[in-house]
Amino acid sequence: MSGHRVSIVGVTGAVGQVMLECLEQRNFPVGELCPLASSRSAGKKVTFKGQELTIQDLEKHEFQKGEIVLSSAGASVTRTFRERAIASGAVIVDNTSAFRMEEGVPLVIPEVNGDKVATHSGLIANPNCCAAILTVALWPLYKLSRIKRLVISTYQSASGAGAAAMADLVSQCGEVLEGKTPAPKAMPHQLAFNVYSHNAAIEANGYNGEENKVVAETRKIFNDPEIGIAITCVRVPVLRAHSEAVNIEFENPVSVEEAREAIRSAPGVRLVDDREKNYFPMPLDASGIDEVLVGRIRSDISRTDGRGLEIFISGDQLRKGAALNAVQIAEQLV
Ligand SMILES: NC(=O)c1ccc[n+]([C@@H]2O[C@H](COP(=O)([O-])OP(=O)(O)OC[C@H]3O[C@@H](n4cnc5c(N)ncnc54)[C@H](OP(=O)(O)O)[C@@H]3O)[C@@H](O)[C@H]2O)c1
Repeated sequence: MSGHRVSIVGVTGAVGQVMLECLEQRNFPVGELCPLASSRSAGKKVTFKGQELTIQDLEKHEFQKGEIVLSSAGASVTRTFRERAIASGAVIVDNTSAFRMEEGVPLVIPEVNGDKVATHSGLIANPNCCAAILTVALWPLYKLSRIKRLVISTYQSASGAGAAAMADLVSQCGEVLEGKTPAPKAMPHQLAFNVYSHNAAIEANGYNGEENKVVAETRKIFNDPEIGIAITCVRVPVLRAHSEAVNIEFENPVSVEEAREAIRSAPGVRLVDDREKNYFPMPLDASGIDEVLVGRIRSDISRTDGRGLEIFISGDQLRKGAALNAVQIAEQLV
C-alpha cells in the first residue's frame, strides 16, 4: 500500500465532508481512507476519489501505528478515543475544543506556528474557527509590530454550528418567505432575518464560551499571553464563512500601505481592499476558497499616534477554520 492510512472521525458532518474534499483536492497521499461516524451512520456510504466507501462505527474501529486521524465529532467524542488511538501509534489532528488549551498540546495554524507540529505527543489541536481565520489574517501584521490589543466583533455563519444548522437556516428562510413563523430545529433562535448572540454558554466573566476560546487560543497561537482581547461573537444569517471586524492596537505605528503590502505577500490570506469600487471581504466570496480575505484596512480615526488599524476579514471556517487547516497539519506530519 502506498500512502498513509487516514481516518475521518465525523465524516458525515459539515467539517468531515470538507475534509474529504480537501484530501482529494490537495492530493494528500492517502493509501487507505477510513470514514468513521457514530453507529447512527455506520453502513451509509461516502465517495472519495470516485470510490464508494462504507462508513464504519468509530467504537469498532481499530487504530494502527502511523494512522492519521482527522477528528471532528465533538469534544466528548475525542475524549472517548484519544487514549486508545495514541496507544496504537496513531496521530490525531483534532478539530474539537477538548485538548486545545492542554499544556504540551500544540495548537497550530501552519502559516503562523507550523514548527509546533513536530512537538506533538500523539495529538495536535486545530484552533476554533474564529481564532483560525483571525490569526492567519493578523500574523502578517503582528510581524510588522507586536499587537497590544484587539477589539473584535464576529459575524458567524450557520455552518459554524454544523450541517444540521445549515439545513435549519435554509428551511427557516423558506418558512419566512411563505409567511410562516419558523420553529428553529438545530439552533436556539430563529436565524433567518435575524442575528443573535452566539449560543455558547455564558461563563463566569460574562463572556460566552466562544468568546473566551478566541481569547485564550489567539494568545496560545501567537505565544503571547499578554495580548488584550475584547470580543463579541454573533451568529448572522449567512450559510457559510465567518467574518470579523477587528480593531487593532499596535506597539509601534503601522501604516495602511505597510499593512496592505504585508497581507499581499503573506501565505493563506488575500487582500480585498478596493476603496474605489467599495469592494471588500464578503462571506460569499470567501466560501469554498482556501484564503482568508482581508480588507477595509484603515487607520483608526479615534487615535492620532498611528498605532491603530481597523480591518474586516471573511474566511471559510469549514476550510481554513477547520478541514483545510487540519489537512495542512497532516501534510506536515507526512
Ligand atoms: N463547523 C465548523 O465550522 C467547525 C469549525 C471548527 C471546529 N468544529 C468542530 O468540529 C466538530 C464537528 O463539527 P461539525 O460542524 O462538522 O458538526 P456536525 O455537522 O454536527 O457533524 C458531527 C459529526 O460527528 C459525528 N458524531 C457525533 N457523535 C459521534 C459519536 N459518538 N461517535 C462518532 N461520531 C460521532 C456525526 O456522525 P453521525 O452521522 O453518526 O451523527 C457527524 O459526522 C465539533 O467539535 C465542532 O466544534 C467545527
